[in-house]
Amino acid sequence: MEYKMIGPEHSGQVLEHLRRNFFADEPLNKAAGLCQNGSSCSALEDHCAEAIKDRMSVMAVDVKDEGTCKIAGVVLNGILKPRDTAKALDKLGSNGDEDFQKIFKLLHCHNIKHNLFEHFDVDSVFDVRILSVDSSYRGQGIANELVKRSVAVAKKNGFRLLKADATGIFSQKIFRSHGFIVFSEQPYDKYTDENGKVILPVESPHIKLQQLYKTICGNDQDNKEPAH
Ligand code: ACO
Repeated sequence: MEYKMIGPEHSGQVLEHLRRNFFADEPLNKAAGLCQNGSSCSALEDHCAEAIKDRMSVMAVDVKDEGTCKIAGVVLNGILKPRDTAKALDKLGSNGDEDFQKIFKLLHCHNIKHNLFEHFDVDSVFDVRILSVDSSYRGQGIANELVKRSVAVAKKNGFRLLKADATGIFSQKIFRSHGFIVFSEQPYDKYTDENGKVILPVESPHIKLQQLYKTICGNDQDNKEPAH
């Protein structure tokens, strides 16, 4: 397996990988019924393309004997500034995709309520946004390696703080194993509409969203669970 930085020239291939492996498989997308495996979702594709532009993303590529390449996994990392999430929430209403709105309202509102920028007094965060491994390559440590390399990219680019919104128990375990710490959590059965109906019926074993962080270049004292 080769690990390479993702450039804008890889966008087409990366999006094709995500359509087949992330769009329908990620726990919140699945709960919302956002899209069928292999089909496109313009709102989510725009979100992914934004991250690719920041040139901090990494892919795992399987180079076969005949010289052909296949993307086995990707991690899309973006640079997040203090007002970005509030702006994205404001723009969400103009997006016609109700399922996308359900997912991103949960993520954006949670991030605004549990504000890492205020807590750590930083003006930019390395945001590990999308972690995806091809279903035929799972269980081989590729996600682990992609997260490890993301931490290295963040370090190299001088970031003090990384964050990730991990939506399922496996991604949560992966981030924690790389020294990420849980900053805040949102149980899915408490994300309800005005009639008390659960908005995203996420399938077991995934029960909550976790916002995790990792500090680098600072002192390890920072890596403590915040008081709630
Ligand atoms: N069942 C049990 N354990 C699992 C599973 C599983 N389905 N998937 C991963 N793990 C555990 C592994 O045992 C391993 O533990 P270890 O380090 O103690 O050995 C650890 O998680 C890492 O495993 P990897 O092999 O590195 O993970 P993999 O390459 O299979 O990718 C991923 C995991 C990314 C969650 C993959 O299943 C996937 O793409 N799922 C769909 C998309 C998704 O949910 N992405 C994460 C959303 S959150 C975000 O994007 C920020």
